[in-house]
Amino acid sequence: MKKKMYEGKAKIVYELLDQPDRVLIQYKDDATAFDGTKRGQIQGKGQVNNQVSAIAFELLESQGISTHFLHVASDTEMVCKRVTIIPVEVVVRNIVAGSLAKRLGIQEGLELDEPVLEFYYKSDELHDPMVNTYHIRAMKLASDEEMSTIENMALRVNQVLQPFLLDKGLLLVDFKLEFGRYGGTVILADEISPDTCRFWDTKTRQKLDKDRFRRDLGGVEEAYQEVLRRLAGREVHP
Ligand code: TMP
Repeated sequence: MKKKMYEGKAKIVYELLDQPDRVLIQYKDDATAFDGTKRGQIQGKGQVNNQVSAIAFELLESQGISTHFLHVASDTEMVCKRVTIIPVEVVVRNIVAGSLAKRLGIQEGLELDEPVLEFYYKSDELHDPMVNTYHIRAMKLASDEEMSTIENMALRVNQVLQPFLLDKGLLLVDFKLEFGRYGGTVILADEISPDTCRFWDTKTRQKLDKDRFRRDLGGVEEAYQEVLRRLAGREVHP
């Protein structure tokens, strides 16, 4: 028995009535961009994001990084630990793109000497404003200890994912993470997918992520399938 707990732009979270410490997460084909002002559907996205996230979480767990992931439940669903999401979105950047290029007037594609970390306050009403650790402390969004754990984990995730993806011919340009509180600890939550990461082909630098939808570049479905094909060595048929 399951009961809808929360429906977001790209996922539905159900509580499992016989397992109060777990949730079922269903990934949707619905896509939004620019704070929900651009809307559409990406056929097969739910399957790709579920499976890509599962592969990423399994890899991270194998490298000692705790995540909410427990197991895949269907093509578009996974069972996860039920966490309380910390309202701080963490962006890690290896190559300049997107809002960093725009905000600071830096050319997209510039490789950063070391990863850049950014924090955003997760608030729909305020449109997820960027915040620093002083704002996070003032607003009591997370404790200093939690922020130190989050920062270390985010950099570790980058260290694990970057070489794994490079081996599949993908550059990890940047990505967004969310963390959750679970029984007194902080674990990685949310998803790791072409919706929340920028992946560029190593050789051609072709974009293989949601930027194809955001920027109307075409070949959106194909890009999502290509990411799953490279990570899992298989294709899904919507
Ligand atoms: P940005 O360049 O638009 O700030 O995005 C940085 C990374 O974060 C990129 O990989 C996409 C991801 N992201 C999300 O997952 N959700 C969001 O709402 C935004 C704005 C970015």
